[in-house]
Amino acid sequence: MSKILTGIQASGKPHLGNLLGAILPAVELSKKAENTSFLFIADLHSMTTVKDAETMISNTKAVAKVWLACGFDHEANYIYRQSRLAGFHTELMWYLSCLTPFPMLANAHSFKDKSDSLSDVNAGLFTYPVLMASDILLYNADFVPVGKDQKQHLEITRDMAATFNRTYGECFVEPKSLINESVMTIPGIDGRKMSKSYGNHIDIFLPEKELYKTIKKIETDSTPLEEPKNPDTCLVFTMYSLLASDEQIAEMRNNYTNGGYGYGHAKKALLEVILDSFSEQRKQYDYFTANEGELEGILQKGEAKAKLIAEENISKARKLIGFA
Ligand code: ADP
Ligand code: TRP
Repeated sequence: MSKILTGIQASGKPHLGNLLGAILPAVELSKKAENTSFLFIADLHSMTTVKDAETMISNTKAVAKVWLACGFDHEANYIYRQSRLAGFHTELMWYLSCLTPFPMLANAHSFKDKSDSLSDVNAGLFTYPVLMASDILLYNADFVPVGKDQKQHLEITRDMAATFNRTYGECFVEPKSLINESVMTIPGIDGRKMSKSYGNHIDIFLPEKELYKTIKKIETDSTPLEEPKNPDTCLVFTMYSLLASDEQIAEMRNNYTNGGYGYGHAKKALLEVILDSFSEQRKQYDYFTANEGELEGILQKGEAKAKLIAEENISKARKLIGFA
């Protein structure tokens, strides 16, 4: 059995890029019989940027709803809010901090990228990788599916596990990152990487009318309707190709190159394919919005299950340190 673990910050509602790049592949992994998956909402990590309770609560719910809507089996696996197990996560974070050389954190990209304006950097951002390592080691995860940007954090985590084991005795698994290099970076409506921070994302869980409004904003050139168009340089076609069948893609390609087919038509087709591809997920998302008590119950159950594992592993670490 392999333990797969990944965390998603509660920094906003997951979008099409997050879904195709991270969430759906992780849900697929969780469905393999030989895996047990731990998916948690890294709300403690989000505190480095999110500073009000209302946003924290709504982001946390949105992330949990998306995972469940995408088919994550919460009975067979684990889903939890990191903050509800904060005692364990931050305790281990302290133990690991005392084994972490200062330069290792000073050289982490997540800190270094922001260190030219140090007055904006809080200590939480500096120690972010230590909390992340504790999230992973606390459950002795074998594999951690993450985006390329998290690769260094996984190297730091492995380093910390090895240092702890060398110093105090065998305790933690050295986890491996699972980085799917083949997953393309999904473009946003302005052609840059789709990202919450650029405000160029497509929220596939919006009501149809609002979803269509976002799709209509996708940037296109000004080729008139009757003229042929190049599908390979068109964002609408690129997005359509991510979801449509081979036949549908070939048909749209023909429409583009033949002319007499406008970007408005293509955008309508994109809306249809999104509604079609995600109809079950959209239904489930709305279900949990209407049944937040059930969502809360699922999370609390997940937290009770995760607590048992966290408790067992932290006890082992305490004993080795001399705190038993
Ligand atoms: P954002 O840039 O919107 O803040 P995050 O950095 O929170 O997204 O990313 C969460 C996960 O989704 C990561 O594993 C990341 O690799 C994946 N992801 C984010 N944006 C994209 C994208 N445009 N295309 C593919 N995967 C993405
Ligand atoms: N740092 C990750 C991100 O920003 C989120 C995260 C926190 C995480 N703890 C984790 C990911 C543990 C994997 C494992 O995307």
